[in-house]
Amino acid sequence: MPVSDVLEILPPGVDRFEVRKPMPRGQFDPLSKEILGLKKKLNAVILAHNYQVAEIQDVADYVGDSLGLSQQAARTSADVIVFCGVHFMAETAKILNPNKIVVLPDKDAGCSLEQSCPADKLKAFQATNPNFYTIAYINCSAAVKALSDVICTSGNAVKIVHASPKDRDLLFVPDENLGAWVMEKTGRPMTLWRGDCYVHVEFTHASIMRIRREFPDAPLVAHPECTKAVRMLADEVCSTEKMVDFCKRTPAKQIIIVTEAGMLHRLKRECPDKVFIPAPTDNCRCNECRYMKMNTLEKVYNCMADLQPRIELDPETLRRARLPIERMLEISARP
Ligand code: 13P
Ligand code: SF4
Repeated sequence: MPVSDVLEILPPGVDRFEVRKPMPRGQFDPLSKEILGLKKKLNAVILAHNYQVAEIQDVADYVGDSLGLSQQAARTSADVIVFCGVHFMAETAKILNPNKIVVLPDKDAGCSLEQSCPADKLKAFQATNPNFYTIAYINCSAAVKALSDVICTSGNAVKIVHASPKDRDLLFVPDENLGAWVMEKTGRPMTLWRGDCYVHVEFTHASIMRIRREFPDAPLVAHPECTKAVRMLADEVCSTEKMVDFCKRTPAKQIIIVTEAGMLHRLKRECPDKVFIPAPTDNCRCNECRYMKMNTLEKVYNCMADLQPRIELDPETLRRARLPIERMLEISARP
């Protein structure tokens, strides 16, 4: 079935999905040109997550997953970091760069995982077992990071868990699906916090079976924030950046992508000769994160022109949250 026919098999009235064609490299609309001018004037760097809208990805210096973004933030020499992602990502950049200005286009760009794990509740739970070693998925607040032993992302979670002390009881927060997947991969038992990504849990066994039946020859790659019922249908489970590697490597020409729809623009740019089929949910033919989509090109321009909204954190949180992030970066860099 040609990919354009995918639209026909999806529920009526859900036709808002469209993948914008990548702009030819180096060609920009007037607002993007203004942003690039401001970037030079401010000595700024624009970091964008793979789920950002296409026009933001196209002006960014770097587009990637949470791990790549934190590695970029750790090594930048820019004076201003324009973080096009969600709040916890910009906070991570600030923790790594306490003396730089970090701006986020929309300060309300949150995350359901971050919201599921308030720091006071985590602290109370940690008090129930002094032998807990807390591994926090990067999708959490700076206050939660400050309470954790080490941070991980979906790109390095398996490595981080393997490297965790053998004599400690592992507590994994806040994503129970990612945690369950890491337990399967490492064989290490962990106590899992009951949080989830509201976007990835919308993919269901039935919705994925449906798209698999339509494209029986297309490999399927899913994010580990998906439930086990979905992960078990995947050929590959990995972070968004590793999805790029998978799609480049596979000889297949059509690939089913089970994650947030912004990923399709990045993939199209990296593999222009391949067709990416967005996995549907039960209600929609693709899936968007409302928080990631709060950022617009206009807001990127405004946050650079005003240098607001800025990420500010108290010195104690900055100091304590930095340690587990640095531990993650150090373990990640090991061969
Ligand atoms: P990665 O891009 O690190 O795989 O994470 C996905 C995500 O949901 C970030 O919010
Ligand atoms: Fe959070 Fe999920 Fe949105 Fe990522 S996609 S920012 S995990 S709500």
